[in-house]
Amino acid sequence: PESGCLSIVVLGASGDLAKKKTFPALFNLFQQGFLQSGEVHIFGYARSNISDDGLRERIRGYLKGASEEHLSQFLKLIKYVSGSYDSSEGFELLNKAISWNETSEKNQPGNYRRLFYLALPPSVYPSVCKMIRTYCMAPSSHTGWTRVIVEKPFGKDLGSSEELSSQLGELFNEQQLYRIDHYLGKELVQNLLVLRFANRFFLPLWNRDNIANVQIVFKEDFGTDGRGGYFDQYGIIRDIIQNHLLQVFCLVAMEKPVSLSPEHIRDEKVKVLQSVDSIKHDEVVLGQYDGYKDDPTVPNESNTPTFASVVLRVHNERWEGVPFILKAGKALNSKKAEIRVQFKDAPGDIFRCKKQGRNEFVIRLQPSEAMYMKLTVKKPGLEMATEQSELDLSYGLRYQDVKIPEAYERLILDTIRGDQQHFVRRDELKAAWEIFTPLLHDIDAGKLQALPYQTGSRGPPEADELSKKIGYVQTHGYVWASPTLA
Ligand code: BG6
Repeated sequence: PESGCLSIVVLGASGDLAKKKTFPALFNLFQQGFLQSGEVHIFGYARSNISDDGLRERIRGYLKGASEEHLSQFLKLIKYVSGSYDSSEGFELLNKAISWNETSEKNQPGNYRRLFYLALPPSVYPSVCKMIRTYCMAPSSHTGWTRVIVEKPFGKDLGSSEELSSQLGELFNEQQLYRIDHYLGKELVQNLLVLRFANRFFLPLWNRDNIANVQIVFKEDFGTDGRGGYFDQYGIIRDIIQNHLLQVFCLVAMEKPVSLSPEHIRDEKVKVLQSVDSIKHDEVVLGQYDGYKDDPTVPNESNTPTFASVVLRVHNERWEGVPFILKAGKALNSKKAEIRVQFKDAPGDIFRCKKQGRNEFVIRLQPSEAMYMKLTVKKPGLEMATEQSELDLSYGLRYQDVKIPEAYERLILDTIRGDQQHFVRRDELKAAWEIFTPLLHDIDAGKLQALPYQTGSRGPPEADELSKKIGYVQTHGYVWASPTLA
């Protein structure tokens, strides 16, 4: 591994994302020995006028499961610099603070590595990036690098996203920009490549000859919880489907990459995105939960969907005719994310399996990571009867001593290591927006209405009707139960 001074700068240090995700992820990396004191320095940057200790106090409560000693060692690594996001003074100060550590350690061999994490609203990305580019780059007189992590929303549609991409593209090259989609850091999302391409079981079955439909589902059992103001500007398609679920879709549907190199993988993702047909209005159901507009920051006439079910159709040799249902919703009956691959009926069935339900391969991303195959077996006993059962790989049981890393933890480590495999490339982002922009413009123009649904329900019943119409067969009377330790 590389050595040398590593400065990690969290911009927007007192915001929600930084407190809830970024600092805890850094702390986990620290605890596992990936961030060595002496080599690593962490800086928080924001507008508020607080001291180093002020920042430490603000984040302390979010750092869990640690001994007091570990915690204070970590907090000691953190310094705070205050400044605005568009004026030079703050960034000059920041640069001084970073350089001071670098030069005080200059007798050590190694690189100067500077990582900037933008935990900020995208409206300030251009000005902040300009400031970093002007005042805070790792000095070219020394080996090392400067990398910038940015997070969605990357614009609101194709046009605004491309504009943002060109603004950032003038300041940093693709190798310096890390567009985070935290779903790519989830254990079971990362497993998709291995599952699909290292198993003879799946290779011959993963196509239109055998698969009837695929669902990629995200459910939350709470509403927008105080984020209504942000959410109403974006809606569930921009918040979840166009990024998180579409990334999962890519990994489920793409062809085998030439190798595991980040460029090869992302080449395949771009190809499958470009093969997606335009979305038809009658293959979309939008919903809005009752009570959404009670949030004072949400306008009374809002048509913003908090639920959407969208059918994607892939125009290629592998997938023609197979619908991919991407479904996401807030304030539903449960909290989970899963991929459900439903197979066609076995032909010439002599067991009347149909009433049992179809074979399904389910990958449960969260909670309780698992994958299971629903299959028909003989019902144990004297009768020759069949029933639906499962082959179950539940991580909690199978990997009892393994702690599954948090998505952000993994992705920040990837950035330090310079591995862009799990980050979104510019052309990939563009292809993703190309799929959804016409639909989003139609929704914004009021051409599609969000149907009301009850908080705590499955969403609008029309969504289940749509799934049925495009060929999904729901199994009744079978519920997978996450197995627990005896
Ligand atoms: C974020 C969305 O990107 O993902 C949130 O903005 C959502 O609305 C969150 O709640 C879900 O992430 P996770 O990891 O909890 O599934």
